[in-house]
Amino acid sequence: MTVREILKMGDPRLLRVAQPVTHFNTPELEVLLQDLDDTMQAANGAGLAAPQIGVDLQVVIFGSGEFNPRYPDAPVVPRTVLINPVLTPVGDAQEDGWEGCLSVPGLRGVVPRYQRLRYQGLDPQGQPIDRTVEGFHARVVQHECDHLVGVLYPMRVRDFSRFGFTEVLFPGLDDADD
Ligand code: NI
Repeated sequence: MTVREILKMGDPRLLRVAQPVTHFNTPELEVLLQDLDDTMQAANGAGLAAPQIGVDLQVVIFGSGEFNPRYPDAPVVPRTVLINPVLTPVGDAQEDGWEGCLSVPGLRGVVPRYQRLRYQGLDPQGQPIDRTVEGFHARVVQHECDHLVGVLYPMRVRDFSRFGFTEVLFPGLDDADD
């Protein structure tokens, strides 16, 4: 079990466009996926992208499958490893929702995201994933995949009157880990 350091906003490694994974079933990929999982769980994250631990590859993990104290009201999202993702919005509708990020500790902001989303990519064995989702699941995927193109959620905030410190915006929310 290796809990890796999560890079914080301001680190230029978070601004890179990540490289695609080309080899599957390798020890290196195994270690990366285990480290991502350990690090996300230790931080109670809803998702984590490889660039957040300094790895320049198109790999994200997300989902909880159970109650998450950082997002107590969030619907359950299946725990997923998604490699080399391609996102396609379904329709034009967007909706606002609160987001946080382990690379932007202590803050939350309202971000517009596509309500419905098709995402495609590969699982750890190199097998295809193809899902069409909506709501919080779609939001999480868009947030995590933004990390693969060097975008952090504050770059997408439009109304900065709805951006601030978690402890002020949501008193009592368990956000001790970020
Ligand atoms: Ni994030």
